[in-house]
Amino acid sequence: MPSAPAPIGEVTLDAARKTISRFPITLVTGGSGYIGSHTVLELLLAGSAVVVLDNLYNSHMESLSRVWHIINNDFARWGIDKSEIPPLYFHKADLQDRRSLEAIFMTWQTSSAPIKSKAEFTNVGARYENEKLGAVYKMKEYSGKPQRPELINSVGDKSKHGKISAVIHFAALKAVGESVMKPLQYYQNNITGLLNLMDVMEAYRVKNLVFSSSAVIYGQGKESNISEDSVSVGGRGAGGGLVTNPYGRSKWMAEEILNDWCIAHRDYNVIALRYFNPTGSHPSGLIGEDPKGVPNNIIPVIMQAYQRRRSKVYVYGSNYDTNDGTGVRDYIHVSDLANGHLAALRSIFAPAAPEPEKKPKEDSLAVGPPAPELEVRDNYRVYNLGTGHGYSVLDILQAFSGVAGSEIPFAISEARPGDLGTVTANASKAQNELGWQAEFDLQDMCRDVFNWAAENPVGYERLRRLSTLAGLDPKAMRKASIAVGLMPDAANAGSNNTNQLGGYLNSLTTLTKDRGAFNEMIRRLSVMHEGILEKSIQEEATHPEVGSVPVPEKQWGMFGDAWKDQDLPIRKGSGSGNLAPPVL
Ligand code: UD1
Repeated sequence: MPSAPAPIGEVTLDAARKTISRFPITLVTGGSGYIGSHTVLELLLAGSAVVVLDNLYNSHMESLSRVWHIINNDFARWGIDKSEIPPLYFHKADLQDRRSLEAIFMTWQTSSAPIKSKAEFTNVGARYENEKLGAVYKMKEYSGKPQRPELINSVGDKSKHGKISAVIHFAALKAVGESVMKPLQYYQNNITGLLNLMDVMEAYRVKNLVFSSSAVIYGQGKESNISEDSVSVGGRGAGGGLVTNPYGRSKWMAEEILNDWCIAHRDYNVIALRYFNPTGSHPSGLIGEDPKGVPNNIIPVIMQAYQRRRSKVYVYGSNYDTNDGTGVRDYIHVSDLANGHLAALRSIFAPAAPEPEKKPKEDSLAVGPPAPELEVRDNYRVYNLGTGHGYSVLDILQAFSGVAGSEIPFAISEARPGDLGTVTANASKAQNELGWQAEFDLQDMCRDVFNWAAENPVGYERLRRLSTLAGLDPKAMRKASIAVGLMPDAANAGSNNTNQLGGYLNSLTTLTKDRGAFNEMIRRLSVMHEGILEKSIQEEATHPEVGSVPVPEKQWGMFGDAWKDQDLPIRKGSGSGNLAPPVL
């Protein structure tokens, strides 16, 4: 009989199950990523316990500790005792690994003991306390909500407590250019991952799902004021034929699969949310977008130009039929987007309205009911999440320069192949049916991106780099930590004592904020383990983003600025295609 997993942090599985039994559980795949972490925050605020499953391919668990910090702060401001904060557990797992997935559902949906190695989890709150992370994080003052937001309806329904009442599925690959180069990887991840998830949900009778879809599925040919029925699933509409890349097609196929699932299971509820252009970050500046590799989306590009991690922004095209000739998009604040997911859950959990009596249409009697394959079920619904307003690239540059108080250098460049002039949402369906609408405007989005960029000059990168290095050679990491004074002595260095480890991780986090100290640590590591830096770069670049977009001149790699004044060996990596190689 397999024994219970040993959770990291202070809880045992039994204790964790007991704590979570007071709350409904939302399982969030991809929950440590950009949109995922913002949604996890809103879920906890609204009373749901959260179990995150993420393979950390394009994210860092650090984001969740920061979510915990924000929520502690909000609860203190509202005068609510922090014991009321719903628990947050993290599993490092991949949706491709069906056994892990099953072990996770077993952990939270049953009282059986799951296979130990497949179900290890971190209690994010315990880690935060153990490592005294509260003392490390610095937040921007933010006004925040005056009182706790309305709880989601499952919180009031005891029958949903201690059970996975819904899944929000973010985990997927999302780089358009990369998907063109690696279609199989995209279909494998995005489709097989979804199928595994649905299969396990079915096995464990979890019937509610909110799916992260994208406006990309509208493809070419649709521009302003796009409504949901421009592309409908279930054999109607354009059927994804206008989508120009494998990433987009994987989202469209996923929607078709989910609709078929809902036809087969009338008691299942799926809502697909088609995002327009998510941007912004939590106003505290603590969590935000930190894309791995060289970003292609406009806001991270502007942010890097502001941080001088690239020399300028190239504006792709100035001859579109728009006010200033540059591309217009519907940018939406990530906190609004996160709340869109809560609105979807509220709608799923809303008490069912009595079914209106349906009169059969006269001719429907003659031809019989529609063939099931042509149906779009009302237990499968789609909503645009956008603001309905469009802003051009120059509008964004101007707004960002305004909040940053400095010009962002830019140059007009060739149009990007396949780009559209204008893409904006018709956002009325979400407003009418979910009661949701965006609250933040462009100014807020730019201010919050700026706060995040200013507070986190290298995003989560330094932590990510240190964890990669520690994984490659834990011994060298320990020695280097002792050498720079992060660990008091060699005897403690080998210890697994949680308190010492907590203190150590705390100092490690502090160290990442100081460029000099961080570089010293790296220098020592590279002396102790020749070639470790190259290995870590290779490790992190296993899946570099291979854009179809020309990069007009050499850009700094993600770590470029951290290295340039150091007397470390200057070596250029061997990037391929039009990717800027990482600069060491
Ligand atoms: C892109 C993806 C889309 C994805 C969305 C959100 C493409 C073709 N589409 O949409 O599938 O759902 O991101 O992740 O990649 N721009 C510049 N300079 C830059 C980068 C962008 O001028 O360095 C311009 C673009 O031409 C566009 C606007 O900025 O007019 C927004 O671009 P981007 O952020 O890449 O988003 P989308 O193209 O809308």
